Amino acid sequence: MTHDAEPTDASPEERARATEAQMTDDERFLLILGVFGQHRLSPVRDERIPEGTTMSAGYTPGVPRLGVPALQMSDASMGVTNPGYAGREGDTATAMPACIALGASFNPTLARASGGAIGREARSRGFNVQLAGGNNLARDPRNGRNFEYLSEDPWHSAVLAAESVNGIQAEGVISTLKHFCLNCNETNRHWLDAVIDPAEHRESDLLAFQIAIERSQPGAIMSSYNKVNGDYTGGNSVLLQDVLKDGWGYPGWVMSDWGATASWEFALAGLDQECGVQLDVMQWGGEAFTEPLRKAYAEGRFPRERLSEMVRRILRSVYAVGLDSWGEAREVDLAAHNEISLETARQGMVLLKNDGVLPFATDTSAKIAVIGGYAQLAVVSGTGSGAVVPAGGYAAVLPIGGAGPMGASRNLFLMPSSPLAELKSLLPSAQVDFDPGQTPAEAALLAKRSDMVIAFGIRPEGESYDLPDLSLPWGQDDLIEAVATANPNTIVVLETGNPVSMPWRDKVKAIVQAWYPGQAGGQAIAEVLTGKVNPSGRLPVTFPAGLDQTPRPELPGMGTPWGTPTTIEYNEGAEVGYRWFAKTGARPMYAFGHGFSYTSFAYSDLAVEGGDTVTATFTVTNTGDRAGADVPQLYLTDAAGDRRMRLLGFERVELQPGESGRITLTADPRLLARFDGDARQWRITEGTYKVAVGKAADALELTAETRLTEALFGS
Ligand code: BGC
Repeated sequence: MTHDAEPTDASPEERARATEAQMTDDERFLLILGVFGQHRLSPVRDERIPEGTTMSAGYTPGVPRLGVPALQMSDASMGVTNPGYAGREGDTATAMPACIALGASFNPTLARASGGAIGREARSRGFNVQLAGGNNLARDPRNGRNFEYLSEDPWHSAVLAAESVNGIQAEGVISTLKHFCLNCNETNRHWLDAVIDPAEHRESDLLAFQIAIERSQPGAIMSSYNKVNGDYTGGNSVLLQDVLKDGWGYPGWVMSDWGATASWEFALAGLDQECGVQLDVMQWGGEAFTEPLRKAYAEGRFPRERLSEMVRRILRSVYAVGLDSWGEAREVDLAAHNEISLETARQGMVLLKNDGVLPFATDTSAKIAVIGGYAQLAVVSGTGSGAVVPAGGYAAVLPIGGAGPMGASRNLFLMPSSPLAELKSLLPSAQVDFDPGQTPAEAALLAKRSDMVIAFGIRPEGESYDLPDLSLPWGQDDLIEAVATANPNTIVVLETGNPVSMPWRDKVKAIVQAWYPGQAGGQAIAEVLTGKVNPSGRLPVTFPAGLDQTPRPELPGMGTPWGTPTTIEYNEGAEVGYRWFAKTGARPMYAFGHGFSYTSFAYSDLAVEGGDTVTATFTVTNTGDRAGADVPQLYLTDAAGDRRMRLLGFERVELQPGESGRITLTADPRLLARFDGDARQWRITEGTYKVAVGKAADALELTAETRLTEALFGS
C-alpha cells in the first residue's frame, strides 16, 4: 500500500508523536502486532490480513485515515524470499550468495549494492520491511545459521551489515538487524539460555550491533529466540532497555522473532512489537500482545505511556525511512541484480590452498573429471526462512526432512547455475566429464583416467539445526579421499556455510571455498578455476583443525529432543574466533583473513600514530604479474601489556601488477578498549599498544607500537 505524504519539515520523531496522539487505542494495539503471512506453517490466510495482500513473513495493518501504511514484511538477508510459494505462486527473486560469502568479500561497497538490489526487489513487490541484517557472530562452526551471518568479528560484521542495511533503506524499505542477541546456536533455540559475561558481551556480539546501528540506523531490531543470562531476549530489560534504548539511544522499534513472545510482560521489558503471532499460539499457547496485553492495560498493569512509546517507535521508523512517501514503484533491473549476485560470488570465493595447479589454462586440452555435488545441474544454498527462490526457480528441491517445526522445510535447494556447464564453456579445448559421485569406487574410475579432478563437496545447513561435527555429509569425505588417491591432481570446491574438517586436505592440490554462491554461483566457480577471475575472498571465520580447538568441543544440548532446555556458556566471552586462537595459541587449519590470490602482495612502510586511537598507514604492492585484489588487515596484538587480538580495520584494494597503494586505517577506539561494567563506559588504559598488518590473523607481516592516553568514553 502506498500513500503520498505531504512534504513536511517536521522530524520523524515529531511526526510520530503527532500521529500517535491522534490514534485510538484499537489502532495502537493493531500496530504492535505482526501477523504471519500465508506459509507452510500457517497455510490459511489469517483473517486479519486483507484479501489480495502480497503474502510473506509478516503483516501489520496500517492506519489509512492517518496515512500510515500497512507494514508488509519479507525475509531476509540474501534476497526476497517466497516461502513455499504460498500466496505468491511462481514469484522468484535474485538469490544473492550466502551472507558469509559476502563477508568473505570484505567489501562494504558490495554489501551496499546487494542491499540496494534486495531493497528494490522488496519494494517492487510491496514489501516495506525487509527482515535482513543477519548480524550474529559466528561463535561456533556448528551453528546451522552461520551462512546467514557475516563473520566472527564485531568490526567486520558491523561494517558489512551496516552497508547492507543502508542499501535496503536507501530504497525506502525498512531493514532489521537481527537476531538481538547471541543467537549463535540453533540447538533447542526456543529453550536455549546463552550465558555470557555482560562486559565481554559488550566487546563482542553487542559491539557488532552497536556499531552497525550507528552506521545505518536500521528501522527495527529483531530480538532472538534464545535467552541471554536467564531472560528471553524479547523480555530482557537489560538488553533492550538498559543497553539498546537507554545506553545507545536507539530510536527505532524492537520486534520479536516469529513465535518468540512468551508473555505480554515483554512489552514492559522493551519489546515493541510481537511478530509471527500464530507461531506464538503454537509455541506458548496464545498471542501475548492481543488479549493479555489489552487486559493488563485495562487493569492498569500496562501503562498508557509505554503503549504510546511502542507505537511512536514504529511510526518514527516509518517516517525516517520514508515508507509513507513511496510514490511510483522503481524499475527493477534483474540483469543488473544478477550481476551483483555474480560479483559477490566471485569476490566471496576463498582460495584456501593452491599447490600451483590453479588456474587452469583456458586453452588446456586436458581430460578433466568433475565429480559430485550436483555440479552438472546447480549450486547449493542454505535452508530455512532466509532461502531465496532464485530467478527462474530452483533446478531441484530435495526434501531432507528432520525433527521440529522446521523439519518439513529442511531441503537441499539447488540453484540452476551449473559449474560443469560453465567450465565446459570456459575450457572449450578440454575434455570435461562428469561423475555424480554416487560411490567412491565409480568416481575413482573416472578420476584415474583423467588428468585433473575437480571434486565438489556440498553440505546444506540451515535454520533450527546445528551440525553435529565438521564432516561432509553423504560419504563425501570418503568420495574425495578415493578420487584424490586415484588422481593426485585433485582440486576440491566446497559449497558449505561453515568450515569443514577436510580429512583429505593433504592429498589434494587445491581447495576453493565457494560457500553458497547464489544464483550465478556456477559461473563464478568456473571463472575462479580458470583464472578469468583472480580470487580475492578472505576467510571471515577461522577454520579450526578440529572441534577440540574451539571453546566448546561438546555442544550442550546436541542430540537431545527438540524442546530440551539447554544452557550454553559462552565462556570464551569476547575472545571469539581468531581471538580465541590467539589466546590459546592453537594453530587453526586456516586462519581468519586467509585467502590466496593468483598474484602476490607485499606490505611495507608502516607508520602508526597513537593518542586517542590508533591510525596506521602502510603500502601494499602487487608483486606478481596479474591484476588482483588484496585485503590487508590491521590487528591489535597487545594493549598496554595485555596480550589480546582485535581486528582494527581492513581494506579491499585492487592493484595492477607492480602497482602500489597507500592505505590508512583508523581504529574505532572501542576496539582498543575494555568495557568497564561498573562505569558502563569504555576504558582505554594508558600505555603502549602493539599493532600488526597482516594477510591473515596468523600471517602478520609488519609490526609497530604506539602510545595511547587514558580514556573513559562512550556507552
Ligand atoms: C527467523 C527469522 C525470520 C522469521 C520470519 C524466524 O524463524 O528466525 O530470521 O525473519 O522467522 O520468517
